[in-house]
Amino acid sequence: MKGIILAGGRGTRLRPITHTGPKQLVPVANKPVLEYAIEDLKDAGITEIGVVLGNLGREAIQQHLGDCSEYGVEITYIIQGNPLGLAHAAGCAREFVGDDDFVMYLGDNILDNGVVELVESFEAGDYAAGIALQRVANPEQFGVADVDENGNVLKLVEKPDDPPSNLALIGMYVFSPAIFDAIETLEPSWRGELEITDAIQSLLQDGHAIDSHVVEGWWKDTGKPEDILEANRLVLETIDDTRNGTIETNAEISGTIDLAESATIESGAVVRGPVSIAEGTTIKSDTYVGPFTSIGKDCEVEHTHIENSVIIGESEVSASGKIVDSLIGRNAQVKSAEGLLPEGRRLVVGENSNLKL
Ligand code: DAU
Repeated sequence: MKGIILAGGRGTRLRPITHTGPKQLVPVANKPVLEYAIEDLKDAGITEIGVVLGNLGREAIQQHLGDCSEYGVEITYIIQGNPLGLAHAAGCAREFVGDDDFVMYLGDNILDNGVVELVESFEAGDYAAGIALQRVANPEQFGVADVDENGNVLKLVEKPDDPPSNLALIGMYVFSPAIFDAIETLEPSWRGELEITDAIQSLLQDGHAIDSHVVEGWWKDTGKPEDILEANRLVLETIDDTRNGTIETNAEISGTIDLAESATIESGAVVRGPVSIAEGTTIKSDTYVGPFTSIGKDCEVEHTHIENSVIIGESEVSASGKIVDSLIGRNAQVKSAEGLLPEGRRLVVGENSNLKL
């Protein structure tokens, strides 16, 4: 069994964070979303992995992952270019996959329980595809499956106005190479993309059996800022307490803290976990870092109360106020306007930003 991870796409819903980089490198608990996919594939015994790249952030992903030898997997980069749809992206991996079965993992998805059960369930029968499902409140925003009481898939439809069920297709699939011929027959959907959902539907119509597997535990598509914050919360709940960095006397800390070796919590700061603080970051005195916050590399945070937030990295935050439910991009400066005249907020805000003042 091989694996492919789709890491192309436009990332429009995560702008401005994705103006300069791909969404698959946005960190959740200080680890890029894409790395969770690699770990899940590795845990399922899959070590030959193709990473499908688009135009946006192609070099950044290659630079970040390198050859991935530290994960004990072998990476092959596959260039898709323009994001013409998930089925198009899968089709680009045909040569890499050859005659093997393969897991396709959407590089912006993250889930609690990995793909071991999905793979085992697919391998237990004679299936052309295996799909992972979860019940959702908003099925019209996903691919949706209609299944009978035994879990046999009857019909699949992409983002339907009138969903046949509340079972959403989540971002992990298992395929036999039969999927490639199905992809060849597709026409672009209403959103102009070759849909993987349509390719699986075409396998069904040709009489192939499709396995379905309802996934327990949480799953998140990290397409939007609020999804990143939610995924960050869910992952922080599971982290280990490391505290490898420097905690000065009179710093007040409690709960689970993942503190990188070169990070510092200064005297007078208050940190309540679960919190992750990456290398080179300093939490200065007179700062409160509250639960469900991840602060990336090389940041300075002072005179600030921050909680339930993600700071991606290389940023300075000294806002003398409360920051909650926020996603702060790389190299940002968030400072207090107190004492400056004329009084007021001073903003240099990028395209597609979202501020609540
Ligand atoms: O998250 C689950 C949903 O993912 C499923 O319910 C849908 O059936 C499926 O179509 C997909 O929908 P999205 O609209 O959320 O897909 P998105 O465009 O966000 O792309 C998912 C991943 O695939 C993301 O990491 C970007 C990558 N991608 C996307 C496209 C369109 C590519 O690598 N190439 C592409 O052409």
